[in-house]
Amino acid sequence: MMEDESLKQQVESLQEQLHKQEKMASLGLLSAGIAHEVQNPLNFVINFSKLSVKLLEDLQDVLEDCSSKLGEDEAADIEDISADLRENLSKIQEHGERAISIIRGILLLSRGKAGEKLPTDIAQLVHEYVWLSYHAMRANDKSFNLTIRENYEENLPKFLVIPQDLSRAVLNVMNNACYTVRERASMEGPSYQPTIEVKVSYAPSEETVRIDITDNGMGMTPEVKEKLFDAFFSTKPAGQGTGLGMGITRDIIVKNHGGQITFESEPNVGSTFTFIIPVKPVK
Ligand SMILES: Nc1ncnc2c1ncn2[C@@H]1O[C@H](COP(=O)(O)OP(=O)(O)OP(=O)(O)O)[C@@H](O)[C@H]1O
Ligand SMILES: [Mg+2]
Repeated sequence: MMEDESLKQQVESLQEQLHKQEKMASLGLLSAGIAHEVQNPLNFVINFSKLSVKLLEDLQDVLEDCSSKLGEDEAADIEDISADLRENLSKIQEHGERAISIIRGILLLSRGKAGEKLPTDIAQLVHEYVWLSYHAMRANDKSFNLTIRENYEENLPKFLVIPQDLSRAVLNVMNNACYTVRERASMEGPSYQPTIEVKVSYAPSEETVRIDITDNGMGMTPEVKEKLFDAFFSTKPAGQGTGLGMGITRDIIVKNHGGQITFESEPNVGSTFTFIIPVKPVK
């Protein structure tokens, strides 16, 4: 009888593991599929914005040829509008390219390929993904506001890290931070000021970069803390969390960068996540 029970438990646990692996594999395929499909339209966006810059130059030439027929005010207006257009186009291109690089990251990740270490401006990377996360959240809820405080050590050299991995790690922690302050705001109302603090610092003597992300959200109970990194552990409603974010983040920091991830958290106070990554400055 006893043996039967433990055998049954073993079978169940194996089944559960298998189920998790299947879920993981299909999730990988799904995200690779989406990433792949999104690449094409994004390329259109980028190429047409490049083309439009050229067209704008042509337009400028035409206008110069007939400048004698234009009044001074009109010429100045056209000049202003053209400058704005040029700037908008360069923004479209820049952000389109950023999206492409995120998509490439997803493709690399889901193919299980190890990313390459590249000289990276870590403060810039953190800044970009902090705001990417913020805007993604705002896209779902325009009325929600939060304070983001950024504190980046100045004049940092570039460091060799795997940019697509590190950006994913920052995004995962930041997404959780945004979620938790939003959750707390919906419970506490206007007296609560949702705030996220982001810090990047470098310790040359230890050759480590440290990234801290602090939220004043819900905090975590001891039970949640214990399971935080487990695959598919999520306290979020179905469809809002897969429970993979923190596991992936730990792999990125610990396995792929030889670093450490730590956290401190208290219910109704908030949480701080810290990455400490060994780095060598690139000369
Ligand atoms: N900053 C935080 N504040 C409070 N709870 C957190 C925080 N970060 C993580 N958690 C808890 O840890 C759980 C696991 O986080 P994880 O990022 O792995 O999964 P998830 O956010 O639920 O789903 P996803 O795969 O979409 O990231 C969350 O569901 C949440 O309960
Ligand atoms: Mg998450």
